[in-house]
Formats: sequence, C-alpha cells, structure tokens
Amino acid sequence: MLTQAPKGTRDMLPQDAYLWQWIEQKEREAAARAGYREIRTPVFEHTELFLRGVGDTTDIVQKEMYTFKDKGDRSITLKPEGTAGAVRSFIENHMFADTLPCKVYYLNAPIFRYENPQSGRLREHHQFGMECFGGREPTVEAELISTLFGFLTGLGLQNLRVHINSIGCPECRPRYHQKLKEYLGERIHDMCATCQERFQKNPLRILDCKEEKCKAIVKDAPLILDCLCDECKAHFSQLQALLSARGIPFAIDPHIVRGLDYYTKTVFEIIMQSGREGLALCGGGRYDGLVEQLGGPATHAAGFGIGAERILMELKNQNLLPEMPAATDVYVANLGADMKIPAFTFTQALRDHSVKADCDLTGRSLKAQFKFADKIGAKYVALIGGEEYERGVVKLRNMATKEEKELPLASAADEIASIVF
Ligand code: HAM
Repeated sequence: MLTQAPKGTRDMLPQDAYLWQWIEQKEREAAARAGYREIRTPVFEHTELFLRGVGDTTDIVQKEMYTFKDKGDRSITLKPEGTAGAVRSFIENHMFADTLPCKVYYLNAPIFRYENPQSGRLREHHQFGMECFGGREPTVEAELISTLFGFLTGLGLQNLRVHINSIGCPECRPRYHQKLKEYLGERIHDMCATCQERFQKNPLRILDCKEEKCKAIVKDAPLILDCLCDECKAHFSQLQALLSARGIPFAIDPHIVRGLDYYTKTVFEIIMQSGREGLALCGGGRYDGLVEQLGGPATHAAGFGIGAERILMELKNQNLLPEMPAATDVYVANLGADMKIPAFTFTQALRDHSVKADCDLTGRSLKAQFKFADKIGAKYVALIGGEEYERGVVKLRNMATKEEKELPLASAADEIASIVF
C-alpha cells in the first residue's frame, strides 16, 4: 500500500516528462497564436460551484467527485473539470469588466474523477483547455476547433475528424424535452433506475446513458437538430460554413450531448482513432448561460478540454512519440583525484554557457567515466587530465566519430558551446 500509487493515478517519470514538456510547448504556442493567455486556478473549489455549474444530474456530480470537508467544515471538491473554475475566476476577478472577448487557456491542469480506471480513463488526469468569454458569433467555436485541430495535426496526428452537434438553447430545448419525454415516457419502465430519475429532472442526460438497454431505446429517439429555433439553426449552419472554409474535416453527430449540463448550442468532440472504442480525445462547446448561472453578468462563452494522457496514447498508437533527448551533451571526465576540482569548475563553466554538462559524482575510474558518458548518450567527453591541465588545454572527444582535439582551457567552454549548439 505504502509504495503503491492510488488506483487510477500515474507517476510522471523522466521518460514521460519530456513528452509532456514537448506537448505543453505546442499547446502554449497554439493558444498564444490565437490570442489566448494562460490562467491557473486552484486545484480545489467549493463543492457548490460544481453542483451548480456542472449539473447535479450528471455522472460527474452524482458519482465521480472527490469531495471532502476541510478543517473549517467547508465542503471542498477537487476539480472534476476545468471550466467551472475558470468561470468562477472570470466572475470573481471582474474580468467581464475588461475588454471582451476574454480568452484564456489552462495547461494540463490536474482533474480528478472517481471513475472505474481503465485504458485512457484515470482518476487523476490533466487537461489542456481553452475558454473564450464574451463572443456570441460561431467564429468562436470555429476558432477553438481550428486551434485544436492545428495543434493536434502539428503533433503529427492523422485521421482526425471533428464531430459536431447543436443542443439548442433555453428557447428551443424545452420543446425538444417535451418531444423526448413523450417518446421516452412510453418506454421508461424498460430503462435503468438512474434514467428513470433523469426523466423528470433532465431527460437530455438519458441520451448519454452507457447502459445497453437505455442505449437501445435512445437509438430511435427524436433528434434535437429537428427542433432547433431559427437562431440556433443559423448559428449551427454558420459554424459548418466556417469549418468547411478552413478545410476542417467534420461530421454532424446528432447523438453528442456531452457529460456536463452547461452547454448551449454547439457541442463537439474528436473521437480517438485508437484505444477503447468511442473514447473522446477532446470535447467542448458553447455555454452561454453558465457565467450568469454562477452569479456573473450574462456572457456568451465557449471552450474545450483535452486530456494530455489521451493525446499521448494517440501519439503512441500512431507511432509519433519523439525520442527522449540525452540529459547531457558534454561529460567532463577527470583523470584522477587531483583533477576533481578543475573538472567540477569546468563543468560549471560549461553550464554557465548554457551547455548541458555533467561530471563524475561517484568516484569512477577514467575508463568507467567514458563508459558512463557513452551510456547516458553524451555527444562529447571533455577530458581534464593532469598533463593537459598543466599545458592549459582540455581534450574534447566526439563520441560518435571518436575524433579528438585540444582546446585552450581559458576559452574551451565558449568554444564547446558554439560546437554543441
Ligand atoms: P470532458 O469531455 O469531460 O469535458 O473532458 C475533456 C477531455 O478530458 C476528454 O475528452 C478527455 O480527453 C479528457 N478526460 C476526461 N475524463 C478523463 C479521464 N477519466 N481520464 C483521462 N482523460 C480524461 C470537460 O471537462 C469540459 N470542461 C470541456 C470544456 C471546456 N467545455 C467547455 N470548455
């Protein structure tokens, strides 16, 4: 128990961390190019935020939140998603009073959901998300989807297809609820207990049920796309025109409802090509009512979230993971105890010149130091030997070609820096 990470969590080891850094760099660049700025919100929030924001009939709220009482008897929840925290911060920090739209992104923020752990489904995962506040036009969703798509194809991923749907607004959705209830009402006794509960409170949630018997009933249910009001219809068709103009492959999928209650109009997902069937690589949509619902002024908003672990899974399955770069470019070997101090100071001088350098920390023989340098993939070994040191030179060996040359000690760090870069 003591030496076992909690179920559904993963260590990020050095051989994983460089991949995360690589992805994060691409995420930052993609978001910055679209004018989004980074926001970081706390890892926990008041439970009420998620009850009100995510929706109390969702699986996340009903089954998956890590909720506890703190020492002040407040109910606290570890973030089960990133949007509600961003909205809370937008309201609390009066960002609505600045020039809108306000465009923010969060970089692989830790997210906690008490789910049944399996491939691609963890209890702690990390999301890159982008949220845009104050934009009513479908250009917002088109910008989010284009940025996401550009980021993913920039990593090399192929065969991506964006699934889009519209789930209407407070004007047209009640009409759809009515139609859906008429259809489901006749079949309610054949559905699972949770869906029977959902039937009264939030029938749309039934469309998202994973139980086979409910899925079979839902298959032939009326579609919301047939009930959209004129405004939602126009919004959805403009979004399609924007995506087509940009050449983004998309499909209309009338069955996407998403697992969170705050969405209005557009919802979208990209489904993974590999891994468990139907697992989403990312998901997002418009949530025009959420800011007001959480106590802020009425504000149009839209965003997406994408799990870093799922990006890595997809990259691995498409054979696209870059190799881990060597930790050290230059290994500084010393020839005996007298040379330890000069070798140490020379290593530091190389580091001062931004060269990734390392030296012996364990008292290895010269032969063992060369062997070690080879093992860690150092491109060069700089030998600080007694005789060379007396002559004021360093011997530099190229580990690939075995070529050697002597460099004056005084300028060696500078010269090596220009060779390495
Ligand atoms: P979500 O679809 O619940 O949306 O999650 C977004 C993404 O997080 C998923 O597509 C997936 O990549 C990843 N993810 C979710 N759950 C897990 C898990 N248990 N293990 C590994 N990865 C997971 C949201 O969270 C919304 N806040 C997205 C959003 C932002 N909508 C508007 N703005």
